[in-house]
Amino acid sequence: MTDKTWFVTGTSTGFGRSLATYLAQQPAVKLVATARKVDQLDYLDKYDHGQILKTSLDVTNGDEITASVEQADEKFGSIDVLVNNAGIGYFGTFEESNRQSVEYMFSVNVWGLVDMTRAVLPIMRRQKAGVIVNFSSIGGLYSFPTLSFYHGTKYAVEGISESLSKEVSDLGIKVMLIEPSGFRTDWAGRSSQKVIPQVEDYDQFGDFIKENAEGAHHEAGDPEKAAEIIYDQVSHHIDTLPLRLPLGKFASDTAIQKYRDNLTQFEALREISVSADRPEKSED
Ligand SMILES: NC(=O)c1ccc[n+]([C@@H]2O[C@H](COP(=O)([O-])OP(=O)(O)OC[C@H]3O[C@@H](n4cnc5c(N)ncnc54)[C@H](OP(=O)(O)O)[C@@H]3O)[C@@H](O)[C@H]2O)c1
Repeated sequence: MTDKTWFVTGTSTGFGRSLATYLAQQPAVKLVATARKVDQLDYLDKYDHGQILKTSLDVTNGDEITASVEQADEKFGSIDVLVNNAGIGYFGTFEESNRQSVEYMFSVNVWGLVDMTRAVLPIMRRQKAGVIVNFSSIGGLYSFPTLSFYHGTKYAVEGISESLSKEVSDLGIKVMLIEPSGFRTDWAGRSSQKVIPQVEDYDQFGDFIKENAEGAHHEAGDPEKAAEIIYDQVSHHIDTLPLRLPLGKFASDTAIQKYRDNLTQFEALREISVSADRPEKSED
């Protein structure tokens, strides 16, 4: 098998770290592991025999994106798989969320992913091959209270990725969305800001936010299993690569139920929906 170069953002902890650790041990992989603080990637050193490049990369920093992509291309001559994993969360009611903080979350979860992808696409077009793995969430399909803006970022990632996949499929480039439910990473803990409701009308949601914070690192999902599944899909199932890959039982149950519910509702509304068009043979 020809070696493939994987470029992963946010590999200091969580999914990114598990994926980088797994990839670093695969014989046919060259790895570009990136993190805001590159000294947090020392855990990779014991696997490194020249096939690993570590770069300092904050996905909100355009210069660092350009430099990391150039370094990767220079060292390995290709980027075959881009994993846009870096992301943060934000818990708070819609009304009480801080605009500046949620704008920053959009700049990481959406614009960071967009800018990374735009930097790598010319290389993939040159190769006439590539896979873009975008971390969405089950929260990119289904919404909970107190996460409106996090959902906003992940629904954006879903729409952007689905549209992009249609633009690049003829160029040999595939896109896969990862939609996990709760996994044991730092996401619900240090990576998510929490705003406990102060407006009495929203008191009932305080417990949900606290439970999520306390549940951090006790979630059902295992990031090491996620890493193996992602590698297996990209490496061995490229012809049937799914656009959407829910990960975890809760994600799978929720995705199926959401689509079933939507289907039932759309079918019930069918007559009304269709009646909004002009008659087919209308002159004007
Ligand atoms: N865990 C879950 O339950 C879950 C469920 C659904 C989706 N997700 C998604 O999974 C992805 C990975 O998160 P995780 O669960 O692995 O959480 P995590 O352990 O907190 O990891 C988040 C990673 O993103 C990095 N990051 C944050 N801001 C960054 C920036 N501006 N530039 C570059 N890297 C940045 C962090 O780096 P630092 O160490 O520098 O902060 C860290 O490496 C996210 O997109 C998240 O939305 C997670």
